[in-house]
This record gives sequence, C-alpha cells and structure tokens, in this order.
Amino acid sequence: MNACPPKRSEGWELDEFNLPWAGDNSINQRNSMITISTGGNLSHTHFHSPVINHYFCRNFYKNILNMRKKIAAGNWKMNLTLSEGKQLISDILNGLEADPPKQDANELLVIFGTPFITLKDAADQVDGNNQVLIAAQNCYSEESGAYTGETSVEMIKSTGATCVIIGHSERREYFKESYEMLAKKVDLTLKHSLTPIFCCGEKLEVREDGEHFNLIKEQIESSLFHLDAADFGKVIIAYEPVWAIGTGVTASPEQAQEMHKFIRKTIAAKYGKPVSGECSILYGGSVNAKTATELFDQNDVDGGLVGGASLKAGDFVSIINSF
Ligand code: 13P
Repeated sequence: MNACPPKRSEGWELDEFNLPWAGDNSINQRNSMITISTGGNLSHTHFHSPVINHYFCRNFYKNILNMRKKIAAGNWKMNLTLSEGKQLISDILNGLEADPPKQDANELLVIFGTPFITLKDAADQVDGNNQVLIAAQNCYSEESGAYTGETSVEMIKSTGATCVIIGHSERREYFKESYEMLAKKVDLTLKHSLTPIFCCGEKLEVREDGEHFNLIKEQIESSLFHLDAADFGKVIIAYEPVWAIGTGVTASPEQAQEMHKFIRKTIAAKYGKPVSGECSILYGGSVNAKTATELFDQNDVDGGLVGGASLKAGDFVSIINSF
C-alpha cells in the first residue's frame, strides 16, 4: 500500500470519486487491480487503471478518517511565519524518518493545523505521505462573497488541506462563534469533502459547578446532531477543557477518560454504538511529551490536539511516538 502514495500534482480532486465508505473497510492491492471492501455499501469494486489505483490509494487514506484512528494533531494557533512553519514540518518529517511511528497510516495519522498562509506549502511538503494531513484552524460559515478577510472551505480545499478545526474555545470566546455558526461551518466542511475536527470543552467554573457533562453534551448536540449518521461518521471530536489549554495543567488521564466515555455514550444514544465506536475523540489541553503516553493509553482517548508542544519538533515527534 505504502508503495503507491499518489501526488496531488497528478491532478486528482478529492471528491471526484466520493465513495460511501462505511463498516469494516479493508483495502487490498495486487498488481494493477485494487479491491476495496466498504463493509457492505459497495463491496468488491475493482479498478484496473493504475491512475485510478493511485487515486484510490490516496483517497482511501483521506477517507479512512471516518474510521476510528489514533491521531496526533498539532494546532499551531497564530504562531510561525511561512518559513518557520515549513522548517518545523521538515524537522518533524525528518524526526519521524529517524524514529518512525510503530503504527502505519491504517492506524495512526499525524495532522498539522497551520495558519492559512502556510496551508499550501505545508500540503505540498506532505504530498504523497499517506500518514500526514494538513488542517486549517478555522473557515468561514458562508460559501463565498463579500466577507472581507474571511477564508472559505473551498479556498482551504484548493490548498490541498483536508481537515478544518472548528469551534476551538478560543474562537468561541474571542470571536463569539455561536452553536448555529459552528453547525454551518461543519456542514460546509462536509459538503466540500473535508474533515471537521470539532472542538468542545468547558471553562473551570462550569466544571466547578458540576455542569461540565451537560455543557459538552449541549455543544455537541447543538452543532453536530443535525447531521445524519453517515456525515456524523466523518467528524473527529476534540475534547479540550478550557482550564487545561495553555495552562500547563493537563487533565488527569482519569478526567479525560471519564469525559471521552461520556461523549461516546452521548453519540451512541443518538447514532448507535457502531457509529460512536468508530468516532475518533482527541484530548487537548497541555498535552506534552511526558503526559501523552498515559492520556493516549485510556480506552476512549484516541489521541491529542496539541498546541504549544506541537511547535517543537522533538516534542511533537515524541508525542506522535507515545502511541
Ligand atoms: P496547549 O497544548 O498549548 O494547551 O493547547 C491546546 C489547544 O488548544 C489545542 O487546540
């Protein structure tokens, strides 16, 4: 599989073949024929063209995001110039070459959440690498038009980025993003075949009042539960308690597990256990090379959305290799 990472430069667009991936996906490639089982939706489809083979090799990896995975995602926030960002990615890729992850792209994905100005160069840098994806940190809630200074999902897609972080607590707090606006962003992201990384999280006072479970349920219900099961299955969730973000106070593994289990239960009640069991739920908030292993060991913690520590190549490589 890894022998055929196709390039965006071959000119294929992500949604040219939008297959209804579902169930126990498996992929198998022999010579120039590819066999894809989608768990019932479209089983045993054969493609003989090597170009289409290449297309599916790449898109398989892009689409398998809607299967549960281990994910180490970095959110650079408003840090690093274009040249600094490119240097960081190249340092991390070199670090991973020297110290490769134990899991391949079927199990583990790495995501760089870069500023808009870096997306295109970052996507070019990882083009052909099945294990590394690029995410924008935000998008606008309208398709296009007179919204000076905003960036649409289509624009993000045109850079080669494949994911969009939506609803980060900093956007909820500083830019007053409402549940309704976030729902529109999620819809647009899915409409253009990109993957939303949907953030939720409570402030300290909410936790102290014992209202944290209710709030997280409300955040998820209000901006995601209008989706049908197929679309919900394409969403990655990141639980990021606000009191842990940038404070150096990481949630304990028990606190993270407790909330992630609750989130999975909330999803199961709406969409059923198969959907909730396949949802990747990341933890974010002062994850570092020391805390990652224990957090990622928890049953319902599928990885991390990492801020500060994702800006240091050595630390982020260690976090990736904590799984
Ligand atoms: P820190 O890892 O710096 O706490 O940031 C977490 C975060 O907000 C990631 O989105």
